[in-house]
Amino acid sequence: MNSKNRTRVLTGITTTGTPHLGNYVGAIRPTVQASRDSQTDGFYFLADYHALIKCDEPARIQRSTLEIAASWIASGLDPEKVTFYRQSDIPEIPELTWLLTCVTGKGLLNRAHAYKAAMDKNNAAGHDTDADVTAGLFMYPVLMGADILMFKAHKVPVGRDQIQHIEMARDMASSFNHLYGEHFVLPEAVIEESVALLPGLDGRKMSKSYDNTIPLFAPAAQMRKQIAGIVTDSKAPGEPKTTEGSALFQIYQAFASACETAAMAQAYAEGIGWGDAKQMLFERIDREIAPMRERYQDLIDHPDQMDKILLAGADKARQLATPFMRELRHAVGLRALSSGSAAVATPEIKAALPSFKQYREKDGQFYFKLVDAQGQVLLQSLGFASPKDAGQTIAQLQTAGLHDLSNWSQVLEALSPEKERSALNALGKLINS
Ligand code: TRP
Repeated sequence: MNSKNRTRVLTGITTTGTPHLGNYVGAIRPTVQASRDSQTDGFYFLADYHALIKCDEPARIQRSTLEIAASWIASGLDPEKVTFYRQSDIPEIPELTWLLTCVTGKGLLNRAHAYKAAMDKNNAAGHDTDADVTAGLFMYPVLMGADILMFKAHKVPVGRDQIQHIEMARDMASSFNHLYGEHFVLPEAVIEESVALLPGLDGRKMSKSYDNTIPLFAPAAQMRKQIAGIVTDSKAPGEPKTTEGSALFQIYQAFASACETAAMAQAYAEGIGWGDAKQMLFERIDREIAPMRERYQDLIDHPDQMDKILLAGADKARQLATPFMRELRHAVGLRALSSGSAAVATPEIKAALPSFKQYREKDGQFYFKLVDAQGQVLLQSLGFASPKDAGQTIAQLQTAGLHDLSNWSQVLEALSPEKERSALNALGKLINS
């Protein structure tokens, strides 16, 4: 299917930690599954510029990037099918960040939850409001806006805590579009409601900040040992157990089929010992993870392979980012001094795109023309029998990779070479927009 018609789904993963079972169940597994849908055009990236905001240990950033990338690939993400890259391999991202910075109200950023939380914490502790707050933290939403807007993402799957950032990206896109013409797609957040929040070893949500995680690709022996450490109550073997509030049961459920889950519930009711239940949990998880572990280890042992995959992904991403950035630079006026409209006065006129106009003539036939923002006719069609025919030709012109217009002579009035060049130019702008 033509990538133009697919829904573009984009999400980023900050590279500060080692993936754990909670990440797998909550993000990696559902995302890999969704990425197989032929209707979606997936963009998944390692947000390592974002990682710098939270982490100043170079070795940890590097290691985490490798571990997260290897986890996604080992879990089945197909880098041939999706675009999988490292944010810092795309120099257009920080460049776009600046353009967006210049259309983003400081007041908007003042209201960002993460920044407000940092201020509240400082205020509560009696410190200066901005103590230890870097400009990076403050600018976090703009960098994230650049990630999203660069690739014209329609849908952005994120956790609840990120919804505000997507809304801010929409604000930035609207402001920019308003000032410079329609360049950006307004993205939408997608919150996956059905995905389980996995409890950790202590029963609270599995999270690095609670230090209660089970690493996704720990060696089997280590995983078994950690599973043995999941908190349970002190009921003896033979005593019936309740599934409600049991972290062990919830983790089991996240990996098991409905049928297996029912069997486990039955075993609880019949008083399965905690040691046996933990063994069942380990075996169930390992059944899913073990086949991926080898690929993971192979990538960890050969980071050059991972570099290659990511650089190929960046190449793919830059095939979009580079021309788009060129268009955006042009739009804001960062352009060759010899290029056209240096003297054109109003920004509205500069920014507006050329457009197709359809109409009917006295001869009963249907026509269209392509006019630029100043109303100048760039292309003139011949007559069509129906408006549908005219519309289809317009659609073809808008999607075809055009190099010359000579093979359109059945449907268009002839042009001088010079006029043809400006018409092609205008069409190019439309196609890219
Ligand atoms: N801020 C996101 C998080 O912490 C990571 C991220 C960075 C992201 N850029 C993004 C997510 C763009 C979605 C789209 O989870």
